[in-house]
Amino acid sequence: MLHANNSIDPVENAFARDVVAGLSADVKTLPSRWLYDERGSALFEEITRQDEYYLTRAETSILRERQSDIADFVESRAILIEYGAGAGVKTELVLAGLRDPYVPIDIADAFLAETSKRIASRFPSLWVRPIERNFLDVFEVPFDGSGGCRTGFFPGSTMGNLNTIEAKTLLAQMGRHLGDDGRAIIGVDLQKNVDTLLRAYDDSAGVTAAFNLNLLERINTELGGDFRLEQFEHAARWNEIEKAVEMHLVSLCDQRVTLCGRTFNFRTSETIHTESSRKYTAESFERLARSGGWRVAEAWQDADGLFGLFGLTRY
Ligand code: AVI
Repeated sequence: MLHANNSIDPVENAFARDVVAGLSADVKTLPSRWLYDERGSALFEEITRQDEYYLTRAETSILRERQSDIADFVESRAILIEYGAGAGVKTELVLAGLRDPYVPIDIADAFLAETSKRIASRFPSLWVRPIERNFLDVFEVPFDGSGGCRTGFFPGSTMGNLNTIEAKTLLAQMGRHLGDDGRAIIGVDLQKNVDTLLRAYDDSAGVTAAFNLNLLERINTELGGDFRLEQFEHAARWNEIEKAVEMHLVSLCDQRVTLCGRTFNFRTSETIHTESSRKYTAESFERLARSGGWRVAEAWQDADGLFGLFGLTRY
């Protein structure tokens, strides 16, 4: 709803609510899910093709090289539920050999529709049943299929973008969706030297910088903000305590920004923290999985040990 002064009402609009709350905090922060409007999603796809961003290549190589081990783990008569399906390209490697319902879950309806259409045409006998939800919400997965066991698929290291409470909550929700004989395959980026990590989040072509700055553009467009993008700079930083690469937007001068009828002050070098990408070891991921009710049954890595794909069973 628009106010008399033409500003969006933060009580009714979730994006406005998060932005006003995040910029009002002592340490300014914005939830990373808002990075993915149409342009943000397209820029993320472009990031995955940058030389420095090894994650997608490494994970795809595991899916290709260990395809038959993964298919054995999934079993041929399993319902595959994909959390945060996005462009769903990796799914095709897991789906070969499956015939029961494929249930992609994603908040972005455009991606979901496109993915569902493409998968349905590539696998004509597969029953595709998309669910348009934020996978962090609490919801049911109603499809029974042929009664085969259920497998959850959560690739791409999106797990790393969740804080510990969100990650545990999602693992517990996956447990409810997938049942006692359910299985899950989860991709996570592994800890490695900090230079390699930082380059992956600050590529030389500036695509990650554009992805991060697009959030300010989105605030300007959707919330009537007056951010001057040239007065902010993208930065990737390593947080040793959290074992996470953080994306920040750094204010290049003292400045004042207005949106939703409110004013926010920025000091020179003050930042907005826009994303954390947590990096795991096999041990730290195993601890996380256990805290969410899962046991690591299989662990696959690419040849360079950059990325891990974990096969989980219930405790
Ligand atoms: C979606 N997610 C796993 C990406 C990551 O690596 O944390 C998002 C991203 N942010 C900057 N580059 C990529």
